[in-house]
Amino acid sequence: MLSKTFLLALAAAFTAVAQNAAYAQCGGQSWTGSTACVSGYTCKSSSAYYSQCVLSSAVIGSTLKATTTKSPAAASSIAASSSGNAPSGQTFKASFTEYGSGDSFGSGNCNTATTACGFYTSPGYSAAVSQAEFGVGPGAGAGPACGSCWKLTIQTDSNGKKVSNAGNSIVVQVTNLCPASGNPLCAQNGLSGTNQYGANLNFDTCIDSKASAALFGSSGVALGVGTAQEVDCKGNWSGTVVH
Ligand SMILES: *[C@@H]1O[C@H](CO)[C@@H](O)[C@H](O)[C@H]1NC(C)=O
Repeated sequence: MLSKTFLLALAAAFTAVAQNAAYAQCGGQSWTGSTACVSGYTCKSSSAYYSQCVLSSAVIGSTLKATTTKSPAAASSIAASSSGNAPSGQTFKASFTEYGSGDSFGSGNCNTATTACGFYTSPGYSAAVSQAEFGVGPGAGAGPACGSCWKLTIQTDSNGKKVSNAGNSIVVQVTNLCPASGNPLCAQNGLSGTNQYGANLNFDTCIDSKASAALFGSSGVALGVGTAQEVDCKGNWSGTVVH
């Protein structure tokens, strides 16, 4: 019979060489596991919270794709009927954060096709939404909320103090997941659950899509509280979806 010591030693040896499988999580704010990927795959950050092993060639491919100019006709590919878990039209209390190039977590460009949804917007405002609305967890790819559009209105800072641009609204399209694990802001228990700011939903606006600058404006805050209402993309959101 194998001794417990032997099993532990075996487990330790396994951990030391652990390489994450294709499309598995390999990093993120609360990630404590290996950041290595199996041969042919590269660990690519898609947000402050999530990095995934993607095909090494796909990393190069997405960089090339980002510089390709899309014709305006591509705008017709907007997923107007996606809705995630929330009934369309309902107004939720929401908190707003920002992620992407230049944030305090050292995130990479958030406007790339390595998002959980597998597409991005260029031009056009985008955001990651909290997991209960997104519909699936990390590593599960696109959730039902991918492609849904939301009108975000900022009212206060994190202390409930009215911001200088209170009432400012933008419409974002959901392109990514804000995972519940390790992120109290995005860990609401269902759509009636709340985070530490009393918000049912958190929208982590993508800096690189210019959504963060448009929402926070000159308020001087990077974490705000207000409301979010799902709207039809068509007629409310402007931009182009890039796959
Ligand atoms: C914006 O969205 C609302 C709610 O989904 C919809 O009723 C309205 O027609 C849209 N606006 C335009 C201009 O299409």
